Amino acid sequence: MRIGILTSGGDCAGLNAVIRAAVLRAVNGYGFEVWGIHEATHGLLQRPVAATRLTPETVRGILHLGGTILRTTNRGNPFAYPGPDGGTIDRSGEIGEGYRELGLDALIGVGGDGSLAILRRLAQAYGWNLIGVPKTIDNDLGHTEQSIGFGTAVTVATEAVDRLHVTAASHNRVMVLEVMGRDAGHIALTAGIAGGADVILIPEIPHDIARVCEKIEERRRKGRNFSLVVVAESVKASDGDVLMYTDAHGQSRYGGIGRVLAEEIARRTGAETRVTVLGHVQRGGSPIPMDRVIASAFGVAAVDLAAGGRFDRMVGWQNRRVVDVPIAEAVARYQAVDPGGTLVMTARGLGISFGDGR
Ligand code: F6P
Repeated sequence: MRIGILTSGGDCAGLNAVIRAAVLRAVNGYGFEVWGIHEATHGLLQRPVAATRLTPETVRGILHLGGTILRTTNRGNPFAYPGPDGGTIDRSGEIGEGYRELGLDALIGVGGDGSLAILRRLAQAYGWNLIGVPKTIDNDLGHTEQSIGFGTAVTVATEAVDRLHVTAASHNRVMVLEVMGRDAGHIALTAGIAGGADVILIPEIPHDIARVCEKIEERRRKGRNFSLVVVAESVKASDGDVLMYTDAHGQSRYGGIGRVLAEEIARRTGAETRVTVLGHVQRGGSPIPMDRVIASAFGVAAVDLAAGGRFDRMVGWQNRRVVDVPIAEAVARYQAVDPGGTLVMTARGLGISFGDGR
């Protein structure tokens, strides 16, 4: 069997661990051949296809490395590829053909919901045998409790809260930490609890700035002259707007809620505030042990699915074990933070405010 593997969408820690595990299982376990496709589906557009034969020797020493040796992109949807005149063109046919050019029998696609949905559409249209592996620091894919990269992103964000804690206390300041997560608040919620934040703001629980300031003032009355606020990037400002900007390439991206919040808190409470926008440090760096372990389990399981001819499925992590589910179901079931779930209840039980007055 000849298996292709690609990483698609935003990078995160643990991608190399999946690649390594898939290669070790495929080559040593089954005697299969593995080809690593460069830069997501972009590699399948090149002629000859941009891919490298992967062997246990070529993946040696990558388990602990962040990023992806295959490189990746979160731009260039094959069905609406940027055209020369600023419009878009459908290049899915060329990409679909790239799979045949490489002589693949199966493809392992490591991606988030957007990438897996696109890969599945290609698989359906061009007869690919696809297996999905979930990765995203946002942890918003359905049917898996953990996606690769989430644990590492939370670790980085928690360390940031810890560091801000000491400097906030030294200066009697309110520190606002803006974290990633796209439309979900998983990173903010988990790192906020782990780091002992006073206020956590997530898109799933609408907040009122007056309530946020009440919490800060209540702490002051108790002699706690500093506070830590963790805010997810897609939280709405008081006027109801999600803060987005358009970059030089015309792409919309989140950013700015931390600054707006800090200014409003300063104006309403008189506190000295500072903002930290954590950004892409949450994506880089060495994967934490659990990301390496889950990534390894996913890489092995994905190859086992290919060997068993069980395609159009995504591996997932549930109740301490690897499961597999239809890719279509996983991408259709968005996993937002459950406002009534254990973590929100835990935070409330600890006295952390969500800015909703409860
Ligand atoms: O989906 C992962 C993610 O890191 C989001 O949390 C964030 O909003 C976005 O990607 C950033 O994308 P880019 O790498 O294009 O700046």
